[in-house]
Amino acid sequence: MCGIIGAIAHANVVPVLLEGLLRLEYRGYDSAGLVVTNHGLQRVRTTGRVTELSKLVAQQRAQGLAGIAHTRWATHGEPSERNAHPHFSGEISRIAVVHNGIIENHEAIRSHLINKGFKFSSDTDTEVIAHLIAFNLEQVTDLFQAVCLSIAELQGAYAIAVMEEAHPERIVVARNGAPLLLGIGKSGNYVASDTSALLQTTRDIIYLEEGDVAELSSRGYRIVNCLRNHLGEAVERAVHESHLSNEAIGLGPYAHFMQKEIFEQPSAVANTLEMVFNAQSISPNLFGSEAEEIFSSINHILILACGTSYHAGLVARYWLETVAGLPCNVEIASEYRYRNPVTDPNTLVIGISQSGETADTLAALNYAKKLGHQYSLAICNVPESALIRQTDLRFLTRAGPEIGVASTKAFTTQLASLLLLTVTLAKMRHKLSSEDEQRMIASLRHLPVALQHALQVEPQVRIWAKRFAQKRHALFLGRGVHYPIAMEGALKLKEISYIHAEAYAAGELKHGPLALVDSEMPVVAIAPNDQLLGKLKSNLQEVHARGGELYVFADADSHITQGENLHVIRLAEHAGLLSPILHTIPLQLLAYHVALERGTDVDKPRNLAKAVTVE
Ligand code: F6R
Repeated sequence: MCGIIGAIAHANVVPVLLEGLLRLEYRGYDSAGLVVTNHGLQRVRTTGRVTELSKLVAQQRAQGLAGIAHTRWATHGEPSERNAHPHFSGEISRIAVVHNGIIENHEAIRSHLINKGFKFSSDTDTEVIAHLIAFNLEQVTDLFQAVCLSIAELQGAYAIAVMEEAHPERIVVARNGAPLLLGIGKSGNYVASDTSALLQTTRDIIYLEEGDVAELSSRGYRIVNCLRNHLGEAVERAVHESHLSNEAIGLGPYAHFMQKEIFEQPSAVANTLEMVFNAQSISPNLFGSEAEEIFSSINHILILACGTSYHAGLVARYWLETVAGLPCNVEIASEYRYRNPVTDPNTLVIGISQSGETADTLAALNYAKKLGHQYSLAICNVPESALIRQTDLRFLTRAGPEIGVASTKAFTTQLASLLLLTVTLAKMRHKLSSEDEQRMIASLRHLPVALQHALQVEPQVRIWAKRFAQKRHALFLGRGVHYPIAMEGALKLKEISYIHAEAYAAGELKHGPLALVDSEMPVVAIAPNDQLLGKLKSNLQEVHARGGELYVFADADSHITQGENLHVIRLAEHAGLLSPILHTIPLQLLAYHVALERGTDVDKPRNLAKAVTVE
């Protein structure tokens, strides 16, 4: 999704802007651009990658002491140079704007501004902001006030950075609904939509709050909350030291971030569960100081999430119901926020999100609160995210930065966290004996090693991938707690290899999808040795009898024999409750190697973005 970086300093800021854009590349984008103050505003834009932008910047000798830059992921208007940011308004003293998010009332403002004589040169909602600020600048004395006036008219979620040709000594920024952070440096000040873009310059970070407008100069900054404080009095915002490691966001010896992140899963899970490894028993305090009180008041769970995080919620439902005896609903956040669900105030609402910035998940959580749900918990990978700041309780998946657009280590660490939550709740509800608790702690301690073993199937998966790469469609089957794992496997395959893949609960096969099965339709089955294995085997027979080609991920003792049109890869051990976590690994590897075979952009699949900060 779109990314912003801005800088104002005592030296040329172009290298900082370009490095910042490179750091933001993982979010996904289809064009990039920047503006610097160079005897006026000098703009460079391209529909190419950031490396292409760097070449153009060098050719055009763009440099300056202040600038704003952007990677755009198209929402309004096709990906093209004229739609790329920054957008300008005005001819004599120009305004330049970069923007993340969506302006919902852009059409109404656009017609109003056209009536006032403004001319539009792009299809974007961002250009509306530029003209609106230019229009308001005619009514007030400075850019800061013009931005405050303008954001009062904007509806939607956005983060913006603005420069004015006549006053190159400042950058004005504003946030409402989309993340924006200030970096406070020794030789300059910076703004970005993501901490990773700022670390090259400073670790002193300010998280702007909703309605904040800030003015940056090379020597300082001031912040006003224009939504709450129309008098324009400065507000204080704490400066946090970011602990994100630079190394953690480098590629290291791997070819792709996705590959690196798949192989990081044993350590990511170990980091996430670290506090359990050293404990004799599991304490609710792991989820926050009020967790014990809140957990003892609830009788229902509602999970809200999107995409892969939603699949983690679906797995958790099986665990929470079976082990903790708690009824659990799992809802796609973008659906939940527009329903009129029946509420139960004694529900714990759990938002699951890698980024903690997914617009639908944040909105669904707020909606659940408005409906009267009083308790909330975030399971999230980004300590500095909006989600973490919005809930009563929180548990951090300590997976480290996930750069590949397709989520991998975030998913398995979410599962590990949700299992920990299940055990905590089961214990508090007297559903778990202390022997069972000790057994669970032992299994969790063993999980990183079991994941390491699961990764060893890679050479076998690579052979399968060569055959898959020729196919146009695939079916994924699972039963029970492994059905959501089949869904996750299908999602991974389609998003990075662009092969159409669907997941079905295996029992549903003969209610429709069996009609699709022929020799051209590979069928992947997740077949661990659990209580549903017998049922699953019958479903696999149905596929086999119709000439379908089966690719089965089994356990060492699943007793499924390799044969004609029946390929089997075995994981070394059956992990009981933890089995879905282990069975995720070969599916991630399959998607990764099929994508390699097909030569797609593994880390940045087309049309997708890492953090989906718009609806
Ligand atoms: C798929 C994927 C997405 C995300 C979804 C939610 O590989 O990464 O489906 O899971 O966009 O994102 P978060 O977890 O950041 O809320």
